[in-house]
Amino acid sequence: MSDKVAVVTGASKGIGWAIARALLDGGCRVAIAARNANELDRAARTLNAGAAVHAVAADVRNPADAARLMDEAATRFGGLDILVNNAGVGRFANVADMSVDEWRQVIDTNLSAVFYCCHAAIPHLRRRGAGWIVNISSLAGKNAFAGGAAYCASKSGLNAFSEALMQEVRYDNIRVSYIMPGSVSTGFGDRGVGGEADWKLSPQDVARVVVDLIAHDPRSLPSRVELRPSRPRK
Ligand SMILES: NC(=O)c1ccc[n+]([C@@H]2O[C@H](COP(=O)([O-])OP(=O)(O)OC[C@H]3O[C@@H](n4cnc5c(N)ncnc54)[C@H](OP(=O)(O)O)[C@@H]3O)[C@@H](O)[C@H]2O)c1
Repeated sequence: MSDKVAVVTGASKGIGWAIARALLDGGCRVAIAARNANELDRAARTLNAGAAVHAVAADVRNPADAARLMDEAATRFGGLDILVNNAGVGRFANVADMSVDEWRQVIDTNLSAVFYCCHAAIPHLRRRGAGWIVNISSLAGKNAFAGGAAYCASKSGLNAFSEALMQEVRYDNIRVSYIMPGSVSTGFGDRGVGGEADWKLSPQDVARVVVDLIAHDPRSLPSRVELRPSRPRK
């Protein structure tokens, strides 16, 4: 991983911040992105990695922002090797009660934005002759539940997207993988699905999987990882 260049979306807090931390600890230079510029700058300061971290305020739902993010990372650090699509939102309501705006927020962030980021990153990765795209999905992408239609559909779509993309770019030496965590202790979501609890995974658990994936020999591609709390609440 040493000296690789990574972009991590949604890295101002939670899982994205932990992934950025782990990549920096492994010797990467990392561009971090989120919408709230103040929170992002604070995150960059807490990462405490000097010139190895670069904050780019960007809304990945906007294709122009996604392109600017990849270009800025590549210009700043001389190329791009790793894209971690982590930015995501959780809006939970029954279909009958969910507003069109909430639906769009979820699908645009969790699915369409990943397309925008991959579309913008692939030319940079191809220029390097190799790379990694890691998408942070969710077990909700395979285990649908009431009140989660938008979220589960977005993550299920992300899983299919990741598998198709994996087959498209593997011969460019670009490896694509997606991670499906269960509950993680963060402030995620609008219905108490996030939040602290002893039994939950920590953001560092997810970050460790990202780092482990990237450490795989170039011949090997773990294309999908399910990561569960070992002793979930009964
Ligand atoms: N927490 C869980 O239990 C859990 C379980 C499985 C999977 N996941 C997945 O893990 C990922 C991270 O979740 P988390 O728990 O760490 O969430 P979080 O603590 O709420 O952090 C979300 C991050 O994404 C950023 N973000 C949201 N919308 C964005 C946009 N349009 N453009 C750029 N950045 C955006 C947020 O910053 P701004 O708001 O400033 O943009 C923030 O940095 C998500 O994809 C989530 O679906 C979470």
